[in-house]
Amino acid sequence: MVDDARSSAALAGKHLVLGVTGSIAVYKAVGVLRALRDQGATVSVVMTRGATKFMTPLTFDVLSGHRVVTDLFDAHAVMPHLTLAENADAVLVAPATANFLAKAALGLADDVLTTMLLNARCPVIVAPAMDGDMWTHPTVMQHVDMLRARGTVVLDPEVGPLASGRVAQGRLPAEAKVLEAVHAALRPQADWRGQRVLVSAGPTQEPIDPVRFLSNRSSGKMGYAIAAAVRARGGDVVLVTGPSALVPPPGVTTVHVTTAKEMAEALSQHFSSCTVLIMAAAVADFRPRVTVSEKLKKQGRSELELALEATPDILAMLSAKRTSQVVVGFAAETEQVLSHAKEKLKGKGLDLIVANDVTQPGGGFGSDDNAAVILSATGEQRVCGLMPKRRLADEILNAVRDLCLMAPRGVSIVE
Ligand code: C5P
Repeated sequence: MVDDARSSAALAGKHLVLGVTGSIAVYKAVGVLRALRDQGATVSVVMTRGATKFMTPLTFDVLSGHRVVTDLFDAHAVMPHLTLAENADAVLVAPATANFLAKAALGLADDVLTTMLLNARCPVIVAPAMDGDMWTHPTVMQHVDMLRARGTVVLDPEVGPLASGRVAQGRLPAEAKVLEAVHAALRPQADWRGQRVLVSAGPTQEPIDPVRFLSNRSSGKMGYAIAAAVRARGGDVVLVTGPSALVPPPGVTTVHVTTAKEMAEALSQHFSSCTVLIMAAAVADFRPRVTVSEKLKKQGRSELELALEATPDILAMLSAKRTSQVVVGFAAETEQVLSHAKEKLKGKGLDLIVANDVTQPGGGFGSDDNAAVILSATGEQRVCGLMPKRRLADEILNAVRDLCLMAPRGVSIVE
């Protein structure tokens, strides 16, 4: 890792945004900027007003080779918060003050740096520097926890002499550590290489007649995000998808199906050759007992009764047939989320279940974000706050990797 961090072209082709906030450690950001550029990165610097009190933007202008952005309303850069975030491979904030941590944790957007962070979808690394009592203050700790829970890499400051003259934890982490964190965030993960993952996604449609069907609100976003995450982490994917407006991620073998029966057939066909099944599809639980061949006419009818029959539970069926596959299900619930999810985990013989409350504002069907609790058959529980589905997909893969692929599996629930 250290070799990697020292190599002269290790960051060639990468575009980083360096956020500099108002700590006495601002002068150390100059060293970080030079090191990033020495390794081939293009760096755009964003300074907060506080940072400019410690050092003039001119220093960073010259050393970055780009005009430093300090103002959301800068006439030289049209909508800098959008363009910077869209073009960045990673954002590094060094030094980060307690004020910055609070604003980033809470989503405040009162300057160009914090506004840009809300647009950033790339890795974000934060290197705090502040007085020791500030760092250990419960409010600051809470903000750090919030950021980490959302996937932001927050480095721990180092212990040493501070500007106040006291020795405490609060020094900006050493340059080598900051650089290594940037490398780690940019390094493509390959921890799913060798896994062949069967992913189901989207709704099913159960025909009533040639023009009508029963379905649900699933968009397919969660399953497609999982397929993309597995590919990005080196695994192979067979995606069996119900009707969805989404374009399948590149490099994924995709099977399009419409009904629960077709989904069951496609999944059964691929199950034995896969190592993991992740069943994110919202399969219809019931379908019309008969599909009539002609369009049902409304004339002369004041009501219509539709007889429904249960569809086979694909997940329970495949789980019962498994040889060595890891089997992961979803539980989209509207009440008593955890207890219903635990019942399903046990009843369907799963290794993991991803439980989510589909009534929660900002998450659930169709949304780009979701919050979930991942429960394992062996009693572990990982709580994932509201986050983009693509990031939740990574959290699900982390849980499968840690709790199922690397650990001996059992199917008993520890209450
Ligand atoms: O029992 P419930 O439908 O809530 O369980 C949800 C989980 O079971 C999801 O992973 C879903 O994909 C799967 N399922 C299935 N076959 C069905 C219904 C649900 O595989 N017929």
